[in-house]
Amino acid sequence: MIPFPRCDATAAWAALRGHFEAHGRDLDLREAFDRDPARFERFGVEAPEVFCDLSKNRIDAATLHFLADLARECGVEAWRDAMLAGEAINTTEGRAVLHTALRAPPGTAPFSDEVQATREAMLVFAEAVRARAENGTRPLRHVVNIGIGGSDLGPQMAVAALAPFAHPRLELHFVSNVDGHDIASVLGRVAPAETLFIVASKTFTTQETMANAATAKAWFLAGGGGEVAEHFVAATSNVEAAARFGITRTFGFRDWVGGRYSLWSAIGLPIAIAVGAAGFRELLAGARAMDEHFASAPVEKNLPMLLGLVDVWYRNFHGFASRNVAPYHHGLKRLPAYLQQLEMESNGKRVDREGRALPYATSPVVWGEPGTNGQHAYFQMLHQGTETIPVEFILVKQADARAGSSAAVRDALASQQRMLLANGLAQAQALMQGRSTADALAEQPQAPAGAPIDAPTLAAHRTFPGNRPSTTFVLERLTPRSLGALIALYEHRVFTAGAIWAIDSFDQWGVELGKQLGNRLLPLLEEGGGRAGEKPALDPSTAGLLARLGR
Ligand code: F6P
Repeated sequence: MIPFPRCDATAAWAALRGHFEAHGRDLDLREAFDRDPARFERFGVEAPEVFCDLSKNRIDAATLHFLADLARECGVEAWRDAMLAGEAINTTEGRAVLHTALRAPPGTAPFSDEVQATREAMLVFAEAVRARAENGTRPLRHVVNIGIGGSDLGPQMAVAALAPFAHPRLELHFVSNVDGHDIASVLGRVAPAETLFIVASKTFTTQETMANAATAKAWFLAGGGGEVAEHFVAATSNVEAAARFGITRTFGFRDWVGGRYSLWSAIGLPIAIAVGAAGFRELLAGARAMDEHFASAPVEKNLPMLLGLVDVWYRNFHGFASRNVAPYHHGLKRLPAYLQQLEMESNGKRVDREGRALPYATSPVVWGEPGTNGQHAYFQMLHQGTETIPVEFILVKQADARAGSSAAVRDALASQQRMLLANGLAQAQALMQGRSTADALAEQPQAPAGAPIDAPTLAAHRTFPGNRPSTTFVLERLTPRSLGALIALYEHRVFTAGAIWAIDSFDQWGVELGKQLGNRLLPLLEEGGGRAGEKPALDPSTAGLLARLGR
C-alpha cells in the first residue's frame, strides 16, 4: 500500500490550523474583495467544459498554499496515479478502481480491449433499440431501467439532464424502490409489447432490483408480452444469475467499476439508448478531458483537487457539516440525489485505511434542489439560519428549452433563461453581501401599520449576516460532453477529499447491517411469521412497532 500519513499529523495541517486561527475563521468575503479587487481572476479556475469561481469562498492565497501542501504531504497525487494505473486501492475489497479506464483512449489504460469491445456491443444494441422505436408495425415506446443506487441514480440523472438530446419517441423510466408503488406506477403507463426492461445490477442479487424485476416479469407474462428474452436485458457482472432469470442478452462490466462510478459502463445503457451512440461517446469524451486535467494539472490549478481541498478546509477547520448543491438547470434536478450517493457513500467513513478510528470529520451532508425551486423552500435557512452552509451554484449559459416553433414562445423561454441566471447570481451575491440592520431600517423605517412590532425589531428580522460562502460553476451549455466533464469533476473531487482523510472511498460496508437485519425481520412480516417462539430476540421498540403493523 502507498504510505499515507494521517492528515491531522502533517506539517500542512498544523500550518492550516494556525492560519485558520489567525485569519481563516474571521475572513470576511466583503473585506477580502475590498482588499483584492482581482479576487475573481485570482480564484477563477478553468477546467475542461467547466469554469469555476471560487472567489466567494472563505479562502485566500495562503489557504490554498497550505491546502496544496496538505495534498502533497498526504500523497494525493500518488494515490491518484495508483488509481489510474489500476492498483488495488480499494483495499477492503481488494479491488482496483478503474472507472477512468471506461473512458480512456484505446490502448492507454488497463483492460482497454475488453472495455472497447463491451462498449461497442452495448452501443450497437442501443442503436438497435432506437431503430425499433421507428419500426412502423411494432414500435418500441418505453425503456424501463430497474436498478437502485449506482445502477439507477447516475443513468437517471444523466437521462434527465440530456432530455433535449434524447430520442423523441422513446420514453425512459426508472424504477428503484422496493416499495411496489414505484414499479406499479410505471407498469400502469406502459404496454408489454412496447417495452424493453433493463435489469441493472452489478451483483444481480440486490433485494430491491430482484423484487422489481420479478414483478416486471410476472406483469409482462400475464400481459402476453411475448418472449422474456426479447424484452428483458441485463447490465450486470453476474451473467449466470441473469441467465437464471431468463435473460440471454447481458452487458457486463468488471468488479473494478464501483456502483456509484458505473454510469460509464454497461450501467449507462439507458443513457446510450436516450442519446445514441454518438451522444454516449461525447459523454465519455467530456469525462476523459476532465480525467486528463486531473491527471496532469498541478495541484494549484487542478479543479477537482482544489474543490476537494476546500471541502476539507470547510469540514475540518470551519466545521461546516453540510453543503448545498443548487443546479440552475432543471435538467440537473437529480444531480443532488446522485451526488448524495457519490459523496456520502464514498466518504461517509469513520476509520482510516488501516481501520483506526478517525479523530476528524469526513463527508459533509450533501443536499439540494434545482434553482429556483430551492429559493422558495430552504434558502431562508441558508441566508438567515444559525448554520453556515456553503452553496454550490451551477449555471448554464445557453439553454436548450424548446416548445414548438412559435417565435413568441421562443422569446418567452429566452426571457425565462435570463431570469434563471439572474436568480442564481443574485442568491450567491445575497449570501455573500448580506444586509446590515442599518440598511434594513433605512429601507423600511416604519413597521407596517398595525404590526405589533417596532421598526428596529423588524429590522433585526430583516438583517442578513452575509459572508456566507458559495462556489459557482459555469457551463456554456449542458451537453453530453459537458455533463461528462462535470460528473468526472465531482468523482475526482470526492477522491481528493477521501485521499486526504486517508479513507477507502470505494467500499460501502455501512449498507450491510441494515440489509442483514431486514432479511431477519422479513419472515416476521409474512403470514404466520409472528408466531410465538419463532421470533428472533427483538428490542422492545422494534417488537412494539411490529405489533403495530399487525405482526
Ligand atoms: O447500497 C449499496 C450498493 O451496493 C451500492 O453501492 C450500489 O450502487 C447499489 O447497492 C446497487 O448494487 P447492484 O448494482 O449490485 O444492484
